[in-house]
Amino acid sequence: METGSLASAVFLLLSALLSGCLCAYSSAQLDPLVFEEQLLWVSGKQGQVNTYRIPLITFTPQGSLLAIAEGRKASSSDIGAKFIAVRRSTDKGNTWSPTTFIVDDGSFPDGLNLGSVVVDEEAGSVILIYTICFHLYHCKPASTMMVESWDDGLSWSRPKNLSVQLGVKAFAPGPGFGIQKRLDPAKGRLVVCGHGTIEGDGVFCILSDDHGETWRNGAALKSIPYNQPKKAQDFNPDECQPVELMDGSILINVRNQNNYHCHCRIVVRSLDGGLTLPVEELVFDTTLIDPVVAAGALQKDGVLYFTNPSNDQKRVNLTLRWSLTNGKTWENKAVQIWPGPSGYSCITSLNDDSVEDQKYIFVIYEKGHKDIIETISFVKIHLYGGR
Ligand SMILES: *[C@@H]1O[C@H](CO)[C@@H](O)[C@H](O)[C@H]1NC(C)=O
Ligand SMILES: *[C@@H]1O[C@H](CO)[C@@H](O)[C@H](O)[C@H]1NC(C)=O
Repeated sequence: METGSLASAVFLLLSALLSGCLCAYSSAQLDPLVFEEQLLWVSGKQGQVNTYRIPLITFTPQGSLLAIAEGRKASSSDIGAKFIAVRRSTDKGNTWSPTTFIVDDGSFPDGLNLGSVVVDEEAGSVILIYTICFHLYHCKPASTMMVESWDDGLSWSRPKNLSVQLGVKAFAPGPGFGIQKRLDPAKGRLVVCGHGTIEGDGVFCILSDDHGETWRNGAALKSIPYNQPKKAQDFNPDECQPVELMDGSILINVRNQNNYHCHCRIVVRSLDGGLTLPVEELVFDTTLIDPVVAAGALQKDGVLYFTNPSNDQKRVNLTLRWSLTNGKTWENKAVQIWPGPSGYSCITSLNDDSVEDQKYIFVIYEKGHKDIIETISFVKIHLYGGR
């Protein structure tokens, strides 16, 4: 072995040890490439669904992928009756099961809204939390609901009404995933964050320390002026995606609904396992320009990934960015996933127990040619594919 390659082998080993992961790859070799893309849902009056929106994606404890979306029955509107649609992949996203509808809200005037999916790796279950009557349109009150699967997403429990424990409040989880803390503080806790409406608007997290049996209210980042109608440029944190960093803190990437301070993302951290979101831990990430949308985030092997339509006015240009510094700085290189209309997105990855699973992340997003609501697309990204 030449000294040059010996030195680089030692460097790779050291960086692997420092990042706490005996990975076959190091973050210095990152060069993401769109490896494969498949449309999972196509909107436009077919069967019982008019429009698919609000895509979520998650890994499962058994190593499968679940894609979840709202199937809006009558129109593309946020209100109205819906199904929760699920497709499953047991081969790392290569093939997908037909769509099954796991929840049907009948003909509810202000139907269900997704939602956060959270994997309890300790218990081996997948939990999905959604809301009904969030807009209080011809119905009251709003309710926070939960269903759970113990068999890899094949069957789901009957909906359980979490508002009985949490109190009656309009709370829209995610959209995206909730987390189970892998590190202290509060290792094992389930943390699901979302936003409220005018009757208590801002970002809120709900917590469970007993695998989803009971839930309580945790951290709040309230809007200003709180509980009052907003004007342009007011502080109004909205849809959000939490991730756990490698120091055990929770970073939440938040939609900046009224463009307070910038046309960019709000980022806030919880240092106590989701109990508080101190204002000292809040920043505006001016690199992450944003047209006011739900975005995707993921922490994998010490790298923070982020997807959104990277444009400060319009929902176009779905872009993947990555950070080696927990979001303090972003790599200059970014990957454009789709130049055209693109909306909500969500990211996941499989657990790192094989070299294969270290290589990929999976993105799901709203994609269209004229409008974001046309299709929901799944993208497999090879993190070292450009090499
Ligand atoms: C959920 O529980 C709350 C609080 O008890 C109640 O007000 C609400 O009507 C319930 N929602 C549903 C759909 O049962
Ligand atoms: C797409 O996003 C990239 C990265 O932010 C940016 O450089 C480019 O100008 C964007 N293009 C459009 C049309 O918004």
